[in-house]
Parts: sequence; structure tokens; C-alpha cells
Amino acid sequence: MLASHTALLLLASLASGALGASYTQSDSHTGDGFLKSFAHEAISDPTHGRVNYVDQATALAKNLTFSSGDHFVIRADHTTKLSASGPGRNSVRLQSNKKYTTHVTVWNIRHMPVGCGTWPAVWEVGSNWPNGGEIDILEGVNDVSPNQATLHTNSGCSMPASRSQTGSSTGNNCDVAATNNAGCGVKAPSSNSYGSAFNSAGGGWYAMERTNSFIKIWFWSRNSGSVPSDVKNGATTINTSNWGTPFAYFPSQSCSISDHFDEHNLIINLTLCGDWAGQSSVFNGAGCSGDCVSYVNNNPSAFTNAYFDIQWLKIYQ
Ligand SMILES: *[C@@H]1O[C@H](CO)[C@@H](O)[C@H](O)[C@H]1NC(C)=O
Ligand SMILES: *[C@@H]1O[C@H](CO)[C@@H](O)[C@H](O)[C@H]1NC(C)=O
Ligand SMILES: *[C@@H]1O[C@H](CO)[C@@H](O)[C@H](O)[C@H]1NC(C)=O
Repeated sequence: MLASHTALLLLASLASGALGASYTQSDSHTGDGFLKSFAHEAISDPTHGRVNYVDQATALAKNLTFSSGDHFVIRADHTTKLSASGPGRNSVRLQSNKKYTTHVTVWNIRHMPVGCGTWPAVWEVGSNWPNGGEIDILEGVNDVSPNQATLHTNSGCSMPASRSQTGSSTGNNCDVAATNNAGCGVKAPSSNSYGSAFNSAGGGWYAMERTNSFIKIWFWSRNSGSVPSDVKNGATTINTSNWGTPFAYFPSQSCSISDHFDEHNLIINLTLCGDWAGQSSVFNGAGCSGDCVSYVNNNPSAFTNAYFDIQWLKIYQ
């Protein structure tokens, strides 16, 4: 009786990963490998951005998607002046062909999009939003640092006010209906987590771990002395127990992770203006002048640096 009870407890702790969070690489993407593992989605932006997402053939032909060696570059058009009555600026939205439940992703990113009006994001989303949940890993607008990581869910998911993370929470209710879509965000502690400071440091690594007990998000700048060696080397096996305190920690406490998050696609997108970046208080508040849509229409060269350059993405399960 006692022995079988102990065995059950041991099984339960093994299942929750409590004995050491070790994972094996299931996917590794670099250079033109992204073209096979991600689809270009030529859809209209649900957040009403001044963009025109193009398909893969168009993106390659217009060099909005480019790969060479371990460079995978996706960008917004930076040469075309737009007609106010025509479509938005050409840009790229990629979605992974595979879906993942519990997993770890490590993104090695050299450069992220910058420029007034830009709203780039590296994120994950489930089915039937917000019911399958959304995890934003790298996101911001108008070059305002630092990065903010956010969960978006349906009702019944909130985070404890005090928790083990190095970032600062912007709100603890993850329910989009209760927060006007804001969700529960956490700002990273370092300014080089986003925008031009991220780029001038040579970028860095973003990592996300999702288990049924928690979601954690880490960031290490390129020359940080604390980058774990398995992250830095893109090792085939990793142990997240050695990665230190994440900047964002979302425990399954007043939010059952397994109930609020289903299988997720990984997404990288770059929209311009729209519901967040384009609000005049936000756009002007970031030091950008005029109105966002006219700025995007009339200033193609302002988007010269509106690109991601990704070295690799590794997924562990
Ligand atoms: C992972 O690291 C932790 C902390 O150092 C250690 O206790 C655990 O044994 C490691 N797990 C594996 C599978 O190596
Ligand atoms: C682009 O990313 C933002 C930020 O996560 C998201 O809210 C928006 O829906 C995305 N747009 C598209 C078309 O994917
Ligand atoms: C395409 O884009 C890449 C990456 O930004 C750049 O290095 C290359 O020169 C561009 N090619 C052309 C033909 O413009």
C-alpha cells in the first residue's frame, strides 16, 4: 500500500518534469530550411496593420524573404511609396507547419525590425483564439524597449502578483475579454532585449519553456556572460534547470496551463501601425511624428532596418 503510493508519487513527479527538465531536440531550422518548415501567410492582418502580407513566391521575388548560409531574413518593403487608397506595405508573416504542446523553443536572432510604426512579434498561438491561448515571446512597437512577453487566454487564467521572475508584470489577468486584449504581460529587465539596443549588441537568444506546470521565458543578449552553454551551442539535448530565473514566469496556479493552452503554431510576423503601434498616443509617445499610416505610406526608406535576421530556431520536446 505504502510502496505503491510512493511509486505513484514518483511517477507523478517524473511526469511533471520535477526531476530535471531535460529535453531532446526535435526540430532545427536555419537558412533556407525555414522555407520548408514555415508557410508564408498572405492573409489580412487581424490587428488592422498598414501591411500587405505576401505569399512565399512574391516574398522571394521581391527579396522580402532571403536566405544564405545561416542567415534567414524576412522584412517589410523599403523601396515603395504607397498610394493612400491602395494596399499596405508588403511584409511577411510566417507560421510553422508543425504544432507543439509541451516544448522548448530557442530562437537565435541577430537583428530584429526597427523603425517608427513597426510592430514585430515572435509568438505562438492555438486554435480558436483565445481558447487555445497565445504566448508572445518577443514583441513591441515603435522601437520602444524593453521587450514584453505576454499570455493571452480566455477567462479563468491569472498570475500571482509575486513570482520568481526578473521582469516586471504589466498586469496579472491573462483573460483578453477582461483586459481589452492586453493579457498578462511581463517587461524584460534589460533595454537590449528589444529594438536598436538589441541590434547593436548583435541580438541574442530568446527561449520559451512550456510544461503543464508553467511557462517560462528567458532572454540573453549576444555577449551576456550568463548564456547557458547548451543555448549558445544549440545543443541537441538541453537542461532548462540550469538556465537561471526567467524574466517571465507564468505558473499553472490560478491558471491551468493544460486547460488554457492547446497545440500551438509558431509565428513570426511584422506588421506596421494597427491596433497597438498605430494609436496616435502610442506612435507620437514613442517620438514618431505625424500619423502612423501616412508615415508608412510616404517613407519607404524608414523601413530599411525593418527586418529579422534569424540564425537558427531549435525546438525541444
Ligand atoms: C538538470 O540539471 C539539474 C540542476 O543542475 C540536475 O539536478 C538534473 O540532474 C539535470 N537533469 C539531467 C537529466 O541531466
Ligand atoms: C502579428 O503579431 C501581433 C502580435 O502578437 C498579433 O497580435 C497580430 O495578430 C499578428 N498579426 C498577424 C496577421 O499575424
Ligand atoms: C536581398 O536581401 C539580402 C538580405 O537583406 C541582401 O543581403 C541582398 O543584397 C538582397 N539582394 C538584392 C538583389 O537586393
